[in-house]
Amino acid sequence: MKKVFIILVLSLFLVSCTSKKETITEVSSPSENIKITFDLNAEGRASYQVFFNNKTVIDTSYLGFDFSNAASISTNLELINSSATSTNQTWDMVWGEQERVVNNYNELKLELQEKSDLKRKVNVVFKAYNDGLGFRYEFPKQDNWDEALIANENTQFNLTEDYKTFWIPGDWDIYEHLYSTTKLSEVHALKYANHSDLAQTYIPENAVNTPVTMVGSDGTHLSFHEAALVDYSGMTLKVDTDNFDLTSNLVGSKNTAYKVKRSLPFNTPWRTIQIAKNAPELIESKLIVNLNEPNKLGDVSWFQPMKYTGVWWEMHLGKSSWDYGMTRDDKGNWIDTGKAHGKHGATTENVKRFIDFSEKNNIKGVLVEGWNTGWEHWIGFEDREGVFDFVTPYPDYDLKEVVRYGKEKGVDIIMHHETSAATETYTKQQDTAFAFMQSLGIHAVKTGYVGKILPKGEYHHGQYMVNHYNNTVEKAAKYQVAINAHEPIKATGLRRTYPNTISREGLRGQEFNAWSSDGGNPPEHLSIVAFTRMLSGPVDFTPGIFNIKFDAYKKDNQVNTTLAQQLALYVVIYSPVQMAADLVEHYEANPKPLQFIKDVGVDWSATKVLNGEVGDYVTIARKERNTGNWFLGSITDENKRSLEVKFAFLDDNQEYTATIYKDGKNAHWNDNPLDLEIETITLKKNDTLTLHLAEGGGVAISIIKK
Ligand code: NOJ
Ligand code: CA
Repeated sequence: MKKVFIILVLSLFLVSCTSKKETITEVSSPSENIKITFDLNAEGRASYQVFFNNKTVIDTSYLGFDFSNAASISTNLELINSSATSTNQTWDMVWGEQERVVNNYNELKLELQEKSDLKRKVNVVFKAYNDGLGFRYEFPKQDNWDEALIANENTQFNLTEDYKTFWIPGDWDIYEHLYSTTKLSEVHALKYANHSDLAQTYIPENAVNTPVTMVGSDGTHLSFHEAALVDYSGMTLKVDTDNFDLTSNLVGSKNTAYKVKRSLPFNTPWRTIQIAKNAPELIESKLIVNLNEPNKLGDVSWFQPMKYTGVWWEMHLGKSSWDYGMTRDDKGNWIDTGKAHGKHGATTENVKRFIDFSEKNNIKGVLVEGWNTGWEHWIGFEDREGVFDFVTPYPDYDLKEVVRYGKEKGVDIIMHHETSAATETYTKQQDTAFAFMQSLGIHAVKTGYVGKILPKGEYHHGQYMVNHYNNTVEKAAKYQVAINAHEPIKATGLRRTYPNTISREGLRGQEFNAWSSDGGNPPEHLSIVAFTRMLSGPVDFTPGIFNIKFDAYKKDNQVNTTLAQQLALYVVIYSPVQMAADLVEHYEANPKPLQFIKDVGVDWSATKVLNGEVGDYVTIARKERNTGNWFLGSITDENKRSLEVKFAFLDDNQEYTATIYKDGKNAHWNDNPLDLEIETITLKKNDTLTLHLAEGGGVAISIIKK
């Protein structure tokens, strides 16, 4: 009897549990500063809202998809199930801005299904963090549906005010645009169509690329981006300037009616919104890497973060060339007719000069561009497939000897693969090219994709290329090769999963200062980049130009910062490979500022963003992993300013020798960029300094333990 009673009570309990099963439709971040709510309206249309400290930052925003071969998923949905979980873990960055990363979030999963027709299913998963949120769509395995041909993803971000917005146009082919600062209602992306300095560009809509960062009237900072972009196309955000509203607009292809083709089951990338009450918190946020999967490669200690020099700036200045002056025979083979023009940069002798200089200055890598045959047929040619082979050096470059010489001096060669966007050739060549690198003990390559993508009709940021870039990283890992891609797909935190993804370009880099027709990067450029592009991941900006005006080479171009700012960039702009980009002779003429490049770290155990305003200035201090020494960089835009810095982050009971590289009294990015003062003081925890930055200026400090 007793047994029966217990069973009865138990089953009643179970029944009441199931019948009372709550439908959870909201989730808050662990500290409850961010709340996300989900709703289905009377039509069965899914939407969400986001609140930051109880204020609506994203108002009712609809979710949905269009397909090229099926009806849209938009209305007629019902909520089948919802569930919530919490996660609080820490993980270690194998290299990075810091060692330990806290991954603490609350998750809400909503399982939706169409009420009629095919009863297709799609889940929406939200993760609420203290520094923002991510959400993605999951297309589960289901009976009536095995392949999705996505014509567009219609994810809305309905903002509640006309934010001050820092944006680049939603170009499907390149991110190398200047940032504009306008109200959201004044975004005019089409104005940037067809910049004459870009070998490829396509801006089809009034859309922006991500990360796009916004500052609200009460100081709320938002940055929109995506995480874990895998087997999908990049997302631009179409701007409705009347309603302060953004909608995802995926990058497409001329070759297909759909923008993404996937077999079910699959998940989309995470749509991310970093939310902060001030600008420095945006940089400290680890949301993008947290939303990626853990390291799949295991031990990657064959790659070590490093500073590098290179046969590079001299080409951009026109001192030397990538090409040697060869011609092709009837069969397309490159032949030396003995008429080389004599300007070729990648010669054995020149590279040895860079190796010698690097050895003396605590720099572990030398990048060599223009070393392989094919550069005579690079920019502006339609038939670019089959031109580069990535294993055949020009006749004046003894690669094996250069590698041997470097090893003897503790300096590694960094390989260069300019593909000229001829992706089929590169895909075919990769095994050979990476195996060749491995046989030489070369572990890093800078890749390049200048020009319109071949096959024709594809764009740099579409699904075809996303897969090409990701496959390249995975293939390279098999040969212990790390990738620094130029003309890349945007960073979306995949460096966590594939830590051989070391850096990338994906912005207007230093090179624009050497040749652009629009006056180079303005003094405000990097104080915007730090709060936009840099939020996505490491930046191969290539700082350290000492000869700011380089009149001997180009009278009409220059770098638009002071020399002190060039030093500060080693700390402000994060990358595990950091170039000392100027010519050897320009460094040798300036041994005092060179000392900072020699000393500065590249791999950090901690990062503190001490102050900053988007587009105006930023000060960052980073602690070097192996030494515990600190380095500080501070940069400003075209305005001079004084910033008070408290050294509260230094170790207790430790004295440091601080060498301060600062703008001189008369420094100015244009009038007097080389005016630099160097001062050495003793520094300890809680000391305070007032930094004076000139127009377009900066401060760099090495803080070395005594
Ligand atoms: C463009 C890259 O951004 C630049 O760094 C490189 O030197 C050239 N392409 C040649 O590959
Ligand atoms: Ca720019």
